[in-house]
Amino acid sequence: MKLASTPEKWQEIDQYFQTHTAIHDYDHAQNLILKTSSTAQLKPIHVAPNQGKFLYLIAAFGQASQILEIGTLGGYSTLWLARALPKHGKLITLEKDPNAARIAREHFKHAGLDDKIELIEGDAMEILEKMTARHAQHFDLTFIDADKKNAAHYLRAAHHLTRVGGLIICDNVVRSGRISDFSQQDRDICGLRDYFSALKNNAALESTALQTVGEKGWDGLSISRVIHPPTNATV
Ligand code: SAH
Ligand code: DHB
Ligand code: MG
Repeated sequence: MKLASTPEKWQEIDQYFQTHTAIHDYDHAQNLILKTSSTAQLKPIHVAPNQGKFLYLIAAFGQASQILEIGTLGGYSTLWLARALPKHGKLITLEKDPNAARIAREHFKHAGLDDKIELIEGDAMEILEKMTARHAQHFDLTFIDADKKNAAHYLRAAHHLTRVGGLIICDNVVRSGRISDFSQQDRDICGLRDYFSALKNNAALESTALQTVGEKGWDGLSISRVIHPPTNATV
């Protein structure tokens, strides 16, 4: 009998993976953050536990000591990434929603990682413009996960801010298959298409993208490695 690939089945398998892989104290601490985020009525648009742990493993494998995140929400993905940092490592995360920022700060404190995480509150587009001069080629890993309409702008900034050899990861690049359905023209999906257009013309980055299914539905991640700094000095 052939099993049907349904959202319920994807969820069941995410649960199966969670049962078999979430065995460390930090896995349980991360699950608690999901509970408090839900109690605080934050939108459930954080990465799934297995995706968060994937980010953690990437950061740990790359020994990332400087991480940038665009889009914090309750800090769930932030804390996954921050848990991979070495003793003197730092993570900067950007969030415009004051309520989300307040909850995220509580989570960082509760996790005992507030000394490693700097949350900058405000519009990421404005903050990144200021950061570009100060932090050029500073970060080992940049995780883009804010408003999708600005994704290509975030990529351009991330390219400036991420060192050669560093990674830029962008979340939610499939959006239930809408990325390549050109009858869909809302600002978010157009922003993500602009992101891929920017990759297509960019020999300074080597890139791939992966589709994912799971408890967050059908979506995906784009991953780029910086092989040359950007040529144009403006964001
Ligand atoms: N990375 C989080 C989820 C982020 S959800 C996780 O996986 O746990 C996207 C977040 O980006 C929201 O909290 C939203 O308020 C924030 N955001 C959207 N537009 C933004 C902007 N222009 N500047 C800063 N943050 C923004
Ligand atoms: C949205 C944002 C995200 O980062 C995500 O993972 C899912 C959805 C959104 O803005 O709808
Ligand atoms: Mg996301």
